[in-house]
Amino acid sequence: MKFIPETIRLLHGADYNPDQWLDYPEVLARDLELMKESKVNCVSMPMFAWAKLEPEEGVYDFDWLEEIINKLYDNGVYTILATPTAAKPNWMSNKYEEIRRVNRYGQRELPGRRHNHCYTSPVYREKSRAINTLLAERLASHPGVILWHLSNEYNGECFCDLCINAFRGWLKDKYGTLDKLNHEYWSAFWSHTYTDWDQIHPPFAHADSDVHALNLDWKRFVTYQTIDFMKSEIDAVRTVNPDIPVTTNLMGFYEGLNYFKFAEDLDVVSWDSYPIWHSDDDQSPQRIALHTAMAHDLMRSIKREPFLLMESTPSMTNWQAVSRLKRPDMHMLSSLQAVAHGADSVQYFQWRKSRGSSEKFHGAVVDHSGRNDDRVFLEVKVLGNRLETISELQGSQVESKVAIVFDWENRWAIKDSRGPRNSGIHYEDTVEEHYRFFREKGINVDIVDSESTLDRYSLVIAPMLYMLRDGFADKLKTFARNGGRLVGTYMTGLVNENDLVYLGDLPGEGLNEVFGIRREEIDALYDHQSNQMKMTDEKGVHYKLTELCELIHLEGAEVKAVYAEDFYAGMPVLTRHQYGQGEAYYLAARASIDFLRRFYGELVTELGIDQTMFTDLPTGVFVSERTGDKRYYFLQNFTTESHEVASTDILLDLESGEEGTTWTLKPYQCRVLVGK
Ligand code: GLA
Ligand code: ZN
Repeated sequence: MKFIPETIRLLHGADYNPDQWLDYPEVLARDLELMKESKVNCVSMPMFAWAKLEPEEGVYDFDWLEEIINKLYDNGVYTILATPTAAKPNWMSNKYEEIRRVNRYGQRELPGRRHNHCYTSPVYREKSRAINTLLAERLASHPGVILWHLSNEYNGECFCDLCINAFRGWLKDKYGTLDKLNHEYWSAFWSHTYTDWDQIHPPFAHADSDVHALNLDWKRFVTYQTIDFMKSEIDAVRTVNPDIPVTTNLMGFYEGLNYFKFAEDLDVVSWDSYPIWHSDDDQSPQRIALHTAMAHDLMRSIKREPFLLMESTPSMTNWQAVSRLKRPDMHMLSSLQAVAHGADSVQYFQWRKSRGSSEKFHGAVVDHSGRNDDRVFLEVKVLGNRLETISELQGSQVESKVAIVFDWENRWAIKDSRGPRNSGIHYEDTVEEHYRFFREKGINVDIVDSESTLDRYSLVIAPMLYMLRDGFADKLKTFARNGGRLVGTYMTGLVNENDLVYLGDLPGEGLNEVFGIRREEIDALYDHQSNQMKMTDEKGVHYKLTELCELIHLEGAEVKAVYAEDFYAGMPVLTRHQYGQGEAYYLAARASIDFLRRFYGELVTELGIDQTMFTDLPTGVFVSERTGDKRYYFLQNFTTESHEVASTDILLDLESGEEGTTWTLKPYQCRVLVGK
């Protein structure tokens, strides 16, 4: 990343809230000492300091901030400068009612809280522009400032009149006429026909929630309007200094915003990762590691470039029912896991524990004690040193031949489909199940959506692609025709972008021809029920099927497995079809993980992408690979036992200098190994 100074390469830092400590100069002085000691080289601030920056309307005070930035810079600590728009000052909320959100029950919120301004409000946009412009004029050219941190965790929705009008305007732009909208919304159903744009209401709690295309459009609009607000922030700071790149801290799988839409406007993706590493069972670190690995892959895939880990806790959070401490070495391991998946930073929330209010017991680098010899501080310090040692890998990429489609709009639509199984459609879980084999084998994966290009991949897996957004079926066809391997599953290709079911044979948009099958019906199973698939090869192994079983007919595909039970026993459940130069597999039911392991195992061997550096990784030991001038392998042990792992080539441990092919891993150890 070009904006990271050469002397640093990997960022190690934290959210810093000195505005809470301005009356405690000894604390601020101690912070500097401790930052140096823990090898912290950057801080993000002042994301929640608007009331200190503009204590009264139009009265600004940036002196304290500049002074702190100067001191940090003099001590080798760079600043990621945050716009303060995530929390509005009380004087503003009280004076301008319109900046406060209206919730889905139609109530306007009282002043207070955060992340709750109206994204449409002209007043809030004007106030934000004013402070962002002044902040940029004063500080964006400071040599210590390297990056903009826009607001904080944009999220939520607002149902005020300003937002409703903006939504109606957005719909007018999209559909042009009410006739078109009425058709796409299938509004003749239950006499929902709109005869005036003003009759359209967003999905309030007490409003219509049966027009699925309207629900979808509202979610799309919320993403659009949030980005529009973000763009107004970007515009303010860029106008002053176009050289400082921008990021905003995303939240992984957060459902409310389609993060792929942020790619174009952000220079760098960053995100806040708070896995619950230790829950109430011993296996939780391994399970959570899988989910977190995929979350990092998702965040990296938004721009398909290295990203920043903007927040993580060095110890515990305080918003869980039970907040277990990160066990010794877990902080090291989880931080390096992020780097393994493409992060060029490890950053925390937060530097120092607040003294009061709701985050006073949230984990931080520095405890209330202010000591430099407690467990958490010492672990952070060791990590700071390790990041320095491995910093040469900054900017190296994570290259993947495999892509799994995870599409936010499909996610919204399938969960709102009111189809065969409303008690848990498990879209996210299913995507993760398909991801799992690759992580277990140490094969890198990108997570893509319908707007991504597919040409760089050999294998594209699109689980439960219920909704085909415009143009995506064509991309999948081209991919397969040109030699790619495509895997589709049950619940694919039922509706178009506006949730209208395709007429004619399904999957729609010609995907039936790609897979060489036709779907007739979908059977849903209760949680305790199952079916079996029987492979058609000579061994005829059985695998368990659950939840959804489609009844499909062959239209050119060959059968690889059939149902073994129920009235559709003998009908195909796994098929393979030659399409152009490529092949398309269709899996018609939710299959067990042991099936997916076997299936993808055979597929990657056939594609020649199974040549991983480590064979037979023990359960709970993960590998992720980054490629720059050299190849970097992160060998991560998420178990509480030691393991020995063999590499197929001689590798070098980047930190210890050991060379060899046998690697011991202590519990929760991560090694960074380098190949030629
Ligand atoms: C989020 C916020 C932070 C802090 C943490 C606590 O990530 O961005 O300000 O509240 O949660 O875990
Ligand atoms: Zn609003």
